[in-house]
Amino acid sequence: MTTTTLKTRTILSLLLAACVHAAQGAEPLSIDQRVTQLMKRMTLEEKVGQLTQYSGDADPTGPVAVKGSLRDGISSGQIGSIFSAKGTRSIRQYQDLALQSRLKIPLLFGLDVIHGYKTTFPIPLAEAASWDLEAIERSARVAAIEAAAAGIHWTFAPMVDIGRDPRWGRVMEGAGEDTYLASRIAAARVKGFQGRQLGDTDAVMACVKHFAAYGAAVGGRDYNSVDMSERMLWETYLPPFKAALDAGAATVMTSFNDLNGIPASASRYLLRDTLKGKWHFTGFVVSDWRSIEEMTAHGFVANNKEAAQAALSAGNDMDMESGVYRENLAQLVHEKKVALADVDDAVRRVLRKKFELGLFDDPYKFIDPERERAMLNKPEHRQAAREVAAKSIVLLKNDRAVLPLSKSIRKLALIGPMIKLGVENHGYWSVTVPEVDYAHQAVSAWDGIAAKLGKDATLLYAKGSDIEGEDRSGFAEAVRVASEADAVVIGVGERWDMSGEARSRSKLDLPGVQEELIKAIVATGKPVVVMINAGRPLVFDWTADHAPAILYNWWLGSEAGNAVADVLFGDVNPSAKLPMTFPRSVGQIPIYYNHFNTGRPAPNPTATEWVSAYTDLINLPKFPFGFGLSYTTFRYADLKLDRQTLRGDGKIKVSIQLTNTGKVAGEEVVQLYLRDRVASVVRPVKELKGFRKVALAAGETRTVDFTIDKESLSFFNAALQWNAEPGDFDLMIGASSADIRLQSRFVYAR
Ligand code: BGC
Repeated sequence: MTTTTLKTRTILSLLLAACVHAAQGAEPLSIDQRVTQLMKRMTLEEKVGQLTQYSGDADPTGPVAVKGSLRDGISSGQIGSIFSAKGTRSIRQYQDLALQSRLKIPLLFGLDVIHGYKTTFPIPLAEAASWDLEAIERSARVAAIEAAAAGIHWTFAPMVDIGRDPRWGRVMEGAGEDTYLASRIAAARVKGFQGRQLGDTDAVMACVKHFAAYGAAVGGRDYNSVDMSERMLWETYLPPFKAALDAGAATVMTSFNDLNGIPASASRYLLRDTLKGKWHFTGFVVSDWRSIEEMTAHGFVANNKEAAQAALSAGNDMDMESGVYRENLAQLVHEKKVALADVDDAVRRVLRKKFELGLFDDPYKFIDPERERAMLNKPEHRQAAREVAAKSIVLLKNDRAVLPLSKSIRKLALIGPMIKLGVENHGYWSVTVPEVDYAHQAVSAWDGIAAKLGKDATLLYAKGSDIEGEDRSGFAEAVRVASEADAVVIGVGERWDMSGEARSRSKLDLPGVQEELIKAIVATGKPVVVMINAGRPLVFDWTADHAPAILYNWWLGSEAGNAVADVLFGDVNPSAKLPMTFPRSVGQIPIYYNHFNTGRPAPNPTATEWVSAYTDLINLPKFPFGFGLSYTTFRYADLKLDRQTLRGDGKIKVSIQLTNTGKVAGEEVVQLYLRDRVASVVRPVKELKGFRKVALAAGETRTVDFTIDKESLSFFNAALQWNAEPGDFDLMIGASSADIRLQSRFVYAR
């Protein structure tokens, strides 16, 4: 049977059923009623099928026949979801097979759309540096529009794991170290992905991951264990999940780690008690890749059958890739080791989403090659990517106002192994990179700068060194080229795939001889701008101390080079602020701004005797959380609190006057921090509780407002109750966590 006849038949039979129902004068069935009706017709094996997901084996650059076992599994209704198949041509093949199954239950297609689909946006950590919730939501929106047009129903994003340890390569996927910022960003991403409502053909289901505490892997080593107090879990690691769920996230993915000895994929505490219990989550939970099967390696279960039993019973609805549900669940139900009610609950959750997506009304709803052609890489998507990319670039240093460079510069030297990289700018977890899809190459810094300057300027080039390795043979040429130029831009950093999953590193210096290359170029005395590509905070103390200007560019996506040129030449004034603390040395990690004071806080940055400090290191980070410069300057003045005492459920209105004191327009991220002076459990030295990104013309002044309420003061006490305690609070407003410009105090009274 051809696809078209199949499609027509399915739609006809569904329409017929609906007409009969309507002719009987009945109300249209609710989704839950439709799920119930369908489940009555399902065998146990078919139910298990809905809980089984495999990665697709279609060639990513074009469709090939779906292979044997996968083909049979889908057409016999034993597989409910496929991930990593992409493009309408490929996806149609799979859906055709599903519609050959007895009950014709459509497949659900998932993919890691982490920062864009064809149009790649900056890596999530970079976007977090923008502190621009609208831009971040727009980025996820564009990703959803493109992915949905390519047949995808579901993205495995946002990743909301708090990252306090830059050795962990997956910090590039998250929003950094701060719970408040990460929570706001998690909600923005979910809204962007899911659009107006599930079922629209420009929306994909979000999957908030990895539940939970994956970012706290001991030593920053990926997949490592996590051991933490419940208080820390609830206060620091869980809120971004809650924020994503409150924003409507349809699904949740478990994490690879064990948490206090229990693998997350079989944690009843996390899944049944917290997520589905306390938080009333009605979507479904998917395991991470083979994480159910991996519980044997954890030593938590003896075999795959026990793994299936433990995971399903704990509330893990869908098994990604390990096949242990498919092989064992039906038997486990027969043996009464798994309750049928638990299986039914999981199936109901999955089917509900398929109904919400409208797949039962039209399984081919997302498969429209015309739409796919029209939507991918649209000019306005590229434009949005360029804007977000420019907003994500952090200006770390700008001595003697080296930046912005003049557009009428005559000779500019571009040096370093990153300058001419194209497709690599897509970064880790891009959908495009594995295809080496040259049609959708990202713009290199070289091309972006050349396009900006036009023909009147001469660009000189020397690679200087590789990213890794000891080869210094290119240094002399690089120095010669630099000496001939009016200014030099050096592009160095980590290779795009040095951060990401399974990319933990014990050294965070600029790899290879790149910092030596910088030293050689800085020694020429020319105005030098160092641009660093990386997926995490790196350690580059010499460069930070000696290079006059530094831009932290992360990995910026399809429009990288254009965005870089926009910032280098002042068409965009940088406004990003670091979402993670940058250490001076790997030995300082984990390092984060919202630490406790301890009983022996260091009174100054160099104190070491009998205080909490390292004897061989200044007691400060290299660049603090929230830090980032602009081409203009801002004055913070006139802090006002409308009252000094906050009572019960009341509010304090806080305002300041922010003035752009420089000569160009710019945006500032005004940050509000609080400190609870005395509490029943010790509280951080400061905690971000609000921020505003404000655009000001040169010379302009604006009032910036914040509201503080009981929620802003609340925390989990020793009994894990969320509450605010009466007493004194410090209020700090500043341009970074370490650059507090205005301070006050207030009292909370019940
Ligand atoms: C990652 C997940 C990802 C999954 C599917 C796993 O290895 O941990 O984040 O969604 O693979 O690609």
